[in-house]
Amino acid sequence: MGNTLGFGVLGFVLGFAVGGCLMQCCGSSDVRPSDVESLTCGPRPHASWTRQYDPPPPTAAKAAVAPRGGGSFRELTSPADFAAVAAPGGRISVVGFSSLLSERQGAAGSNTGHQETSNGVPANRVVASQYQYKTEDIDESSAESLRDSLSYAIANKMLIQVPILGTTKKFWRLSDKATRISRKLALILRSQHSVGKYLTAPLQVSHVWIGDNGSVKLRGVSFTGKGFSIERVRDDYKHLLKVLIMLIKLSAGDITKLPPDYVEFLMLLKRDTLAMKDEFLIVNNVALLPMKNRTEVFLMLHNKIVKSLGRTNTAKKKRILSSLPYQNDWLDTAKANTKIEQWVEGVQNEYKRTPLDLLRLNRNVRSHLHQYNNDDDIEETLYCEWPELLMVMEKMLHLEGELEGTDIQNKFG
Ligand SMILES: *[C@@H]1O[C@H](CO)[C@@H](O)[C@H](O)[C@H]1NC(C)=O
Ligand SMILES: *[C@@H]1O[C@H](CO)[C@@H](O)[C@H](O)[C@H]1NC(C)=O
Repeated sequence: MGNTLGFGVLGFVLGFAVGGCLMQCCGSSDVRPSDVESLTCGPRPHASWTRQYDPPPPTAAKAAVAPRGGGSFRELTSPADFAAVAAPGGRISVVGFSSLLSERQGAAGSNTGHQETSNGVPANRVVASQYQYKTEDIDESSAESLRDSLSYAIANKMLIQVPILGTTKKFWRLSDKATRISRKLALILRSQHSVGKYLTAPLQVSHVWIGDNGSVKLRGVSFTGKGFSIERVRDDYKHLLKVLIMLIKLSAGDITKLPPDYVEFLMLLKRDTLAMKDEFLIVNNVALLPMKNRTEVFLMLHNKIVKSLGRTNTAKKKRILSSLPYQNDWLDTAKANTKIEQWVEGVQNEYKRTPLDLLRLNRNVRSHLHQYNNDDDIEETLYCEWPELLMVMEKMLHLEGELEGTDIQNKFG
């Protein structure tokens, strides 16, 4: 197992936090279309995209009848749990989510079943995702030393707080390892879906194993092609969502502090209208990029939107630009940050409050990163100040059918 904690702690957590809630199966009927709509990110700058994809908001009556407790998936996704409020500074806080674990603790107190033996599936069957998307490997012997994701999560914070350079503010973001794990799991599911297979039983935290070198594998799962349909694909991602949330919570992460782009990724996983083509957006979601690879992806998507579509399809370009977030305040944000401000003040071609200039500023800073001593810092600063920018660029390109034409799948470390 590789965990450094005593069995008491591990058993305790297993018993009350995981055993009771993750052992539960969840059908697609437990997830409502309205759940997606009720989780909003800040001022919803990308309203046009959201309108097109998301069903109408929940009614009060619907929210009221959502049953509580019992450890079902519904808890995790009921409108009440996802009722979100926008906080100042573009941060998001999800009211109700933080109480989930404690509710579960109460409901699951008597369930101390052992994860590896209780599901009756041999634990030595390993399904792995490798670097390249589409590749997958079923390894019966598992030569690699793997660590169970529960002990991994307990030992490694997945949600970390970082200072925003040039300001006195702080920002919560996922660790690069956390986003990597998220992506690897999505890749495994997607590679199975691409050959018409899906999980025979809901994915659980106990199925997820982490390699010393950052690989991620599944143990004790099986896939089947019997009755394959888009509903089964959606179920797989809904279970993945649940597992990711549990892992973050087990790593002492406060779910209400998740950055908006990762929340958007999670919402994508539970979308009731998810189509097979959306799997490309799931596995290549910019919320899952290692911090140091965001620049390359920004420059690539910027080029696609401004230059390429600017030549071939100005209507698409316009729609994307008008959907970009931070239209009203990005220049103020830039001027208030002492690191970014030096790129804004006194430049020949003065910045105007247009979406195009928001992109231009981001491109200029990023394409001159090498002039800085600490490249990663400015990249992180740009992310923390405008965490939804790259996300909306990608989403809009996907919506316009232009994302797959980029090289984004090869940009994830
Ligand atoms: C991790 O190490 C194992 C051997 O222990 C190797 O087979 C595997 O390819 C490595 N994975 C990565 C992602 O480096
Ligand atoms: C990710 O970024 C690092 C640092 O810039 C770079 O060395 C690496 O090649 C990038 N990976 C990909 C897949 O682009």
